[in-house]
Amino acid sequence: MKENFSRRQFIAASSLLLGSAALPASAGTNTDNLLSTWLPPDRIAKLRVALIGTGSRGAGMWGRDLQRNYSDQLSFVGLCDKNKGRLAFAKQYIGTDCATYTDFEKMMKETKPDLLIVCTMDSTHHNFIIRGMELGANVLTEKPMTTDEKKVQAIIDAEKRTGKQCRVTFNYRYSPHRAKIWELLQAGEIGELTSVDFHWYLDTSHGADYFRRWHRKTENSGSLWVHKATHHFDLLNWWIESDPETVFASGSLDFYGKNGKFRSDNCRECPHTSNCDFYWDVTKNKYYKDLYVDNEQYDGYKRDGCVFKEDIDIYDKMAATIKYKNGVQVSYSLTSYSPYEGYRIAFNGTKGRIDAWIEESNKSNNADYDEIVLYKNFGKRDYIRIPHGTSGHGGGDKLLQDQIFLPNVPDPLKQSAGARDGALSCLIGIAARKSIEEKDVIAIRDLTDIDLQSKKPYQNML
Ligand SMILES: NC(=O)c1ccc[n+]([C@@H]2O[C@H](COP(=O)([O-])OP(=O)(O)OC[C@H]3O[C@@H](n4cnc5c(N)ncnc54)[C@H](O)[C@@H]3O)[C@@H](O)[C@H]2O)c1
Repeated sequence: MKENFSRRQFIAASSLLLGSAALPASAGTNTDNLLSTWLPPDRIAKLRVALIGTGSRGAGMWGRDLQRNYSDQLSFVGLCDKNKGRLAFAKQYIGTDCATYTDFEKMMKETKPDLLIVCTMDSTHHNFIIRGMELGANVLTEKPMTTDEKKVQAIIDAEKRTGKQCRVTFNYRYSPHRAKIWELLQAGEIGELTSVDFHWYLDTSHGADYFRRWHRKTENSGSLWVHKATHHFDLLNWWIESDPETVFASGSLDFYGKNGKFRSDNCRECPHTSNCDFYWDVTKNKYYKDLYVDNEQYDGYKRDGCVFKEDIDIYDKMAATIKYKNGVQVSYSLTSYSPYEGYRIAFNGTKGRIDAWIEESNKSNNADYDEIVLYKNFGKRDYIRIPHGTSGHGGGDKLLQDQIFLPNVPDPLKQSAGARDGALSCLIGIAARKSIEEKDVIAIRDLTDIDLQSKKPYQNML
């Protein structure tokens, strides 16, 4: 049986190893008792956490936020990054006195963490997920879990082989707006779901940012089909509650990269700043200056790369038709040079339809709620207002962290996601890439040995 993954289970496991008091009879059924009586008040067993990848996401959400908000539950035992300057900055930014490493193996062997958090460049995740599990840790990885089907298979195999678990941080599932959609679908408000129209727009600020960074190369990010759309495909898999079966896609690079009239290596060295709409001074953002600019000497990485560089090989315009095992079909698109950021989605069912949209960058919209419209085929329409969440990603980031690190946070909306969920969201994007290359429909079952189900199995990670 696989080792379970929640904080209380980690504590249970580490306390057993330390030879603490025997489990009370109520343990396993009453977690309040388990926490209050099993752990002696003078010895708080904390989750031992190591972090690889101390960039923006690692130092911030999975570094400083954890240190500030969950230090009763966990303590950092090691930080690792290949850039030693960024690593040193992250250590003080997070506010931990734990050891730092540029050698991952050394960190794992010396610190023996219960949990490894993976926040490196996407194409490297699998190395740390697999080796982390082999060296005895459970793993929490940032999305996308990985970037090609061979790496997906290797992670699934490593999970089986080691008995450890890999949880994927799908924060998008936790936004209250998307959670409400899940509830309406589950309640059968539109009858049987038959199709979904899902269109995502990245604007000329956030969207352009993918083309400035390492994300601009497929070998690093798997392209936006994987790096970005893994979020969207995971939402679809969760809402539709079925596994994807086939993908047919098209895409091209129409706007960024080779399409620009002029270019440079990066904004700071560019002779075209006065007539480029994308000129951006990275040094004005203190966090980015501290993380990247001040540490370029160690790896040469420029955070303000030119969006028109000719080495950009990811698509900036994408569309796909996805068919699910339960018969639902999806029309999906992603545009990365839109005047506004957000999405529009519609769920069509046998008894009605749900329309929902978000305009994240619409400054003229002062409303403190997002709306969903629920239509009945032969009845009234309801407008449902969802108050904005306060933390990052529509309020999802904090809810996700609470569920992972606080005791007794249930999962009624089935939001926790494991390696199988991580795999299937990546595989839709990987299939889309292949579909464009091969000009053919790609069957998901041909990519790995995952047994596809008409009703998606719930990966309860608690
Ligand atoms: N869930 C979300 O909403 C969300 C948001 C942002 C980023 N992310 C994910 O977080 C991850 C990190 O993104 P980021 O924006 O922090 O990128 P980043 O470039 O700021 O940080 C990546 C860090 O990993 C380090 N690194 C890369 N390869 C390494 C290796 N082989 N060994 C050791 N260190 C290595 C880099 O030096 C850098 O410090 C990505 O996978 C990204 O998809 C998720």
